[in-house]
Amino acid sequence: MDAVRIYGGNCLSGQTTIQGSKNASLPILAATLLINGICEIENCPDISDVYHMQRLLESLGCRVEREDSLVRVDTSCLRESNMPADSVGVMRSSIMLLGALLARTGSVRMEYPGGCVIGARPIDLHLQSLRRMGVEIDQQELGFSARAAGLRGIVFRLPFVSVGVTENLLLAAVLAEGMTVIEPAAREPEIQALCEFLIRAGARIEGTGSDRLVIHGVEKLMPVRYRVPADRIVAGTYMCSCMCAGGSVFLKDAPVRDMEVVVEYAGKLGAVVSYESDGILVAGRACGSLPCALRTGCYPDFPTDLQSPFMVVMAASGKRGRIEETVFENRFRIVPELMKMGADISVQGNTAYVNGVRRLHGAVVQAKELRGGAALVVAALAAEGTSIVTNRHYIDRGYEDIVFRLRELGAKIELA
Ligand code: UD1
Repeated sequence: MDAVRIYGGNCLSGQTTIQGSKNASLPILAATLLINGICEIENCPDISDVYHMQRLLESLGCRVEREDSLVRVDTSCLRESNMPADSVGVMRSSIMLLGALLARTGSVRMEYPGGCVIGARPIDLHLQSLRRMGVEIDQQELGFSARAAGLRGIVFRLPFVSVGVTENLLLAAVLAEGMTVIEPAAREPEIQALCEFLIRAGARIEGTGSDRLVIHGVEKLMPVRYRVPADRIVAGTYMCSCMCAGGSVFLKDAPVRDMEVVVEYAGKLGAVVSYESDGILVAGRACGSLPCALRTGCYPDFPTDLQSPFMVVMAASGKRGRIEETVFENRFRIVPELMKMGADISVQGNTAYVNGVRRLHGAVVQAKELRGGAALVVAALAAEGTSIVTNRHYIDRGYEDIVFRLRELGAKIELA
């Protein structure tokens, strides 16, 4: 039962409520480690990455409870211990615990983090920045141990923008001695959410939402309740579903302000997208014959996490397009699978050339990572005939019950 069967060719209609953001929940859950007491995080998505983060927090002695979408973390019994290797191994965000744990306990031992296989994804900058803050790190083949007698503020200039490094350094810096400057800082909405959470808990952070974050270390943070914003990537994926299958879909709670560039590209591909007060309305299949060029980048540029779903829209609706991937070096793993469905795509280096066909056909295809896996489901919705997408567990890392959500919208889809 690790697969999804989709009977393609049905238009979508109706409304789906967009879940809380995975990429905001994970660092915020890690940030609770900085606070002695009980934090309540609302709108946490029910996905396997959040489940693994909960397990990691529990392995460190925290008490974690979930009531619907509210996750309550009590860190008052935090202790030093080894984290479960399987949870560290499947999820790259486990690295986020490093900065927070060093700030709180001064000592960490962990295996190297995992995550989707979409590139080399080294952690050199995470370790380099923490070393500069006074952390001693002993790296071995399978993992490393880190120790700090106290963290001190630094000016850290990154050679390129990194979401994870910005977050880790933020978490290490809020309780450090003195001032830390992160430049260029990532500006993703999920980092803004993390800053908001920390500021509400008493952190002193200047420059939220800009590419220069200045953090003045404080002595302690206070427990807070915080609501995670909706997931712009999930909203974008369902937007693509409608653009491929046709119909009309209302994405309730979609974070309109964070999705400008996504909506702009949906428009370039011929979809009719309109903003409402509480979400986004998408109508109609992608259409028109103008070629489309898309280049991924750091926020506010087009998000790499929506590159595969947009590739599917081009491939399935007769579009000619060029997609340049600038963030991860191995993010075209979906291409051979899409070709099994009749897509015409060639890859040269970090650029994919899409020669859209009038219609894809059903096939058995394999999810190889999270966003690519969801994109294959999107492709199958538009394809003629039946498709099976295997390795559903990748999709479950980031999408709350995708089968139920798409059925709500009229798709013919079931577990297989
Ligand atoms: C985060 C998101 C992911 C998104 C990505 C880019 C989470 C949980 N994940 O991943 O969904 O696709 O941002 O928007 O929020 N790099 C190094 N050395 C380091 C760290 C990173 O070379 O120490 C490289 C990576 O290999 C990659 C680039 O920097 O090529 C950007 O990665 P980064 O922004 O750090 O992505 P993640 O935080 O892993």
